[in-house]
Amino acid sequence: MTNTSVTNTSAPTASAAQAPPPPSPSPSPREDVGAAGIPDTAQVDQQRPWWSDTVGYQVYIRSFADSDGDGIGDLNGITEHLGYLELLGIQTIWITPFYPSPMADAGYDVSDPRNVDPNFGTLEDFDRLVSEVRRHGLRLVIDLVPNHSSSAHPWFQEALRAGTGTDARDRYLFREGRGPEGNLPPNNWASIFGGPAWTRVADGQWYLHLFDPAQPDLNWRNADVRDDLRATLEFWLERGVDGFRIDVAHGMAKPADLPDAPAGPAAFDPAGFVLASNQAAAEAAAEVAAGGEGQLEDLAGQQGAVVPIAQGGRDPRFDDDGVHDVHRFIRSVLDRYPGRMTVGEVWVGDPQRYAHYLRPDELFQAFNFAILEAPFESQALRDAIESSLTSAASVGGLPVWTMSNHDKIRSVTRYGDGELGLARARAALLMELALPGSVYLYNGEELGLPSVDIPDDALRDPTWNRSGHTERGRDNCRLPLPWEGHEAPFGFSTTASTWLPVPAEYGALTVEAQLEDPSSTLSLVRRALELRSTRAEFRGDDLEWYGAPDRCFAFRRPGGLVCVLNTGDEPVPLPPGGVLLASADLDAQGRLPGSAAAWLVPAP
Ligand code: GLC
Repeated sequence: MTNTSVTNTSAPTASAAQAPPPPSPSPSPREDVGAAGIPDTAQVDQQRPWWSDTVGYQVYIRSFADSDGDGIGDLNGITEHLGYLELLGIQTIWITPFYPSPMADAGYDVSDPRNVDPNFGTLEDFDRLVSEVRRHGLRLVIDLVPNHSSSAHPWFQEALRAGTGTDARDRYLFREGRGPEGNLPPNNWASIFGGPAWTRVADGQWYLHLFDPAQPDLNWRNADVRDDLRATLEFWLERGVDGFRIDVAHGMAKPADLPDAPAGPAAFDPAGFVLASNQAAAEAAAEVAAGGEGQLEDLAGQQGAVVPIAQGGRDPRFDDDGVHDVHRFIRSVLDRYPGRMTVGEVWVGDPQRYAHYLRPDELFQAFNFAILEAPFESQALRDAIESSLTSAASVGGLPVWTMSNHDKIRSVTRYGDGELGLARARAALLMELALPGSVYLYNGEELGLPSVDIPDDALRDPTWNRSGHTERGRDNCRLPLPWEGHEAPFGFSTTASTWLPVPAEYGALTVEAQLEDPSSTLSLVRRALELRSTRAEFRGDDLEWYGAPDRCFAFRRPGGLVCVLNTGDEPVPLPPGGVLLASADLDAQGRLPGSAAAWLVPAP
């Protein structure tokens, strides 16, 4: 790759392509934080709170940095690399779950929400991380998993022991089955990871799990569930976290009658599906698949899965109106801690329903996945940007942009892999970082890491087993980060047997290899973040769209920044102005090549 950072519309110069200087040895402490690490409420700007335009960075803890050589990333690994994050120029860290867990879903199956799993360290390690985060002038957001617990949680174990109709069972969603002898699931809901969303227990009842059977859904109508979440929120807020990323924030509430889902991905179609870990459902499915007529009739009557309905039916598993009560409850706790926030994982397509989550007494923010889901095409990306801005503006806010996370194929790979995929991912990063609002990068995105397929026997995502080995799952975007050196695991750990293998191709993409290379993706991101936080041209929240050549777009921020994106193959001339940064070299005529983006500012 070649130089990318230029200061004018003429050909790039080597001197202008310098990476930003290293951070000062003793970073200045955050000004709005008191001695105890609790934000000074007097300094919380109500109009423009810190989270509204923060640059966040998602640390997938298992894969970020391993400090103790067990092959799994941990809290101390994060603490040891805070200097890197500061150098990168991010402002807020979001850490994925580090709570005690059997790890059926990589930590999103929490058995004790107010402690640290020994894989990741101790509470003392967490406290040290908090104080070091402060010292580096950063913010800390942690994951909260209110939709479900682990099946190893004492509550669930108690529910199994206590039996039908007990208070202990009421904390979860236990129901009687349907069909002869209740041996069919209570409704046709599919688990997100494949197969039915119900598992039968020894006494014949079934429990709901929208995800893995090891993640039973909690009953949000039960007061214990609420009280326990309050205790969890207070526990971490008192320890000094700045906020929570709320997992499955559109889940939690379920319609009281748990109606069948319309045919489609929300519905489990038992025909043709055999699930070893759910014997009863597997047997029913096998019987139906084998043509057991009586069963099939029952299913046709009882399960929407086999009765196609018109498109557009709502998925009853998510976005139930009752979820807003849960958010109001969470907000009532957060409001006692000014300066702290929540950012929800809200997978709700309808812009109006999405905006409901951002009403003043609900979530502070919600991730917007529109640009993540759009292909690398100027019109699709422009539509995604406009709809995101409109829906956030309808509740007086700004979007939280994101293009990658631990559940999605990395953007380099989504956009075509190889050089083309990387060029597009770099361009999309400049597009994203030019937008008003906040942005969350996913660890490794700043290195241009691709998703890499790994051998079958290394796969850990429950999706692999739950789908009967038809869906490989999300491991390929969760591989450990390459830090330095020439041999796997490239400084991630001192052991070569890391929880997921580190692919050989990551060797060329280590932090060490990219840090001093002005043309690297890491240098591009550092420079972009530095400009974003220091230049006045990034001010203002409105976007003005320019006319642009086919397969391109250009928008302007009120402060004067112009961002041009070329999703085509041919070079295009740039509008007047000085080029602040570009994701690829301009050609000899100063044109922007295909699959590239540039930032311009008004000529002096
Ligand atoms: C969220 C997480 C995902 C997890 C799921 C269940 O979607 O991002 O990783 O598997 O919730 O907790």
